[in-house]
Amino acid sequence: MVEVTTLGYYAVAAIVTLVIIIYSTIIIFSHKPRAPHVSELQYITIDSKGEDIVKYDLPIRGDLEIKDDIELSVVIPCYNETKRLKIMLEDAISHLYKTYDDKFEIIIVDDGSKDGTAEYALDLGLNYFKLQKGQLRIVKLVKNRGKGGAVTHGIQHVRGKYAIFADADGASKFSDVEQLIKSIQSAGDSPALAIGSRAHMVDSDAVVKRSFIRNFLMYSLHTLVFIFGIRDIKDTQCGFKLFNRSAILKIFPYMHTEGWIFDVEILILAIRKQIPIKEVPISWHEVDGSKVDLARDSINMAIDLVVTRLAYILGIYKDYK
Ligand SMILES: *[C@@H]1O[C@H](CO)[C@@H](O)[C@H](O)[C@H]1NC(C)=O
Ligand SMILES: *[C@@H]1O[C@H](CO)[C@@H](O)[C@H](O)[C@H]1NC(C)=O
Repeated sequence: MVEVTTLGYYAVAAIVTLVIIIYSTIIIFSHKPRAPHVSELQYITIDSKGEDIVKYDLPIRGDLEIKDDIELSVVIPCYNETKRLKIMLEDAISHLYKTYDDKFEIIIVDDGSKDGTAEYALDLGLNYFKLQKGQLRIVKLVKNRGKGGAVTHGIQHVRGKYAIFADADGASKFSDVEQLIKSIQSAGDSPALAIGSRAHMVDSDAVVKRSFIRNFLMYSLHTLVFIFGIRDIKDTQCGFKLFNRSAILKIFPYMHTEGWIFDVEILILAIRKQIPIKEVPISWHEVDGSKVDLARDSINMAIDLVVTRLAYILGIYKDYK
């Protein structure tokens, strides 16, 4: 009997140690988003003489009562995008004017670019696309945060009834946003989110022509996402996701992930809060100049995925305040 008891003690000690190790590891790898700098709560534009850059305050986070009648807000996270942004904006703005007249806004979140993306976008928006000053809002992050950090920041300062975040590379066809809106509207009065999906394209040229290693990493990530509990969604990573105002307020104040896997955290939060997710097939084409560093980013994504999932299970990440 004595031996059994001793063994029992060892077993309990081993389990406790293991739990402590897992718990501390997750804490170490977990993300603690920094508070925004004062300048990040403002957007930049050009004064009425078209000379000096001036700043105005963004709407306060979490304000549901914003009165501007903006239909759609478009948030574009950018890091070094002087090469690709114009083509994307061309496509987006022509659709926006056609569909919403001038009841839209574009928020470009410059995630600490080193190539003058913010100034380039400002010039393009005002002089080339002739957007009004408040309609194009450029927010400069003082220090690079990663795509998740940039999107999370931008989307909490929108004025629109709906907000979408879209990649600056123009890989998706912007007019597909209407499909997303339509699918959300069928959700009635609840908070809702619609995500673009490229799952119908897995057998297409765009995907088949990718390198073996790229497809291998993509499938590995899908498998991990599946194991970690997101089963019903085929494409979690598409950079084209639309939110209703109330969905924004339920999801984004609780985001932690600064990197690429933030898309999965959005979905985890939506599922936890029983927000319906509509997955909508969109057109999409591969664009050169991807910022994903396959080897490094795949490893980071895998770590972030495991950390995010376990952090919610262990209560290290909370989805309430
Ligand atoms: C961003 O642009 C700067 C200046 O052109 C360059 O030095 C840097 O390497 C770029 N970073 C990436 C990740 O492309
Ligand atoms: C979206 O959010 C608003 C504001 O919370 C709400 O009034 C509306 O019914 C929601 N649903 C849809 C589908 O727009």
